[in-house]
Amino acid sequence: MSELADLYAEIKACKACDLHQRRTQAVPGVGPLDARIMFIGEAPGVNEDKKGEPFVGNAGQFLNQLLALAGLKREAVYITNIVKSRPPENRDPLPQEIAACKPWLDRQLELIKPQVIVTLGRYSMARWFPGASISQIHGTPRKVGPATVIPMFHPAAALHQPKYKELIEADFRKLPKILADLASVKEAEKPKDDPKQLSLL
Ligand code: URA
Repeated sequence: MSELADLYAEIKACKACDLHQRRTQAVPGVGPLDARIMFIGEAPGVNEDKKGEPFVGNAGQFLNQLLALAGLKREAVYITNIVKSRPPENRDPLPQEIAACKPWLDRQLELIKPQVIVTLGRYSMARWFPGASISQIHGTPRKVGPATVIPMFHPAAALHQPKYKELIEADFRKLPKILADLASVKEAEKPKDDPKQLSLL
């Protein structure tokens, strides 16, 4: 865990963009180093800025319900944002803020090496699928390098709009099968014991 703790200390000291001037604290992320799945939102809001943990306000409560729908424990997954400091008045993050924060997410991805990445909302989706329309690609897993990336709507948008709520719930319900299928592919790729070698033992 100390590699993550070291990284969090660096993120908390970061002054690479102007957001550091008005934040209470930076919000690096939460979850275990060996998490198999990483959820990436947009930016901390007022509650996250106070608590130092992502997704602890209303959107976070809804994310917890969605995780439960997918049979996932919050403590077992990794949760972070594309931007680690709260934009004033919860405005959208600016391109230069996303760019300034990119090295932190790169380091988190390197350390955790998630098998599955779920992007929540269009800002984190754009890191992997720039120019894509979330309405068209949400819920569809795509292999990107060693990871499988699944774009989803942002829980805050879904919370207030019944249409998106149904869609995001349906997408989360698909997660157990996606995870099970990926696990069986991984199992099938493992080298089998070679009977010839065994007979030599
Ligand atoms: N919305 C986000 O995108 N991230 C949070 O941490 C909270 C709300």
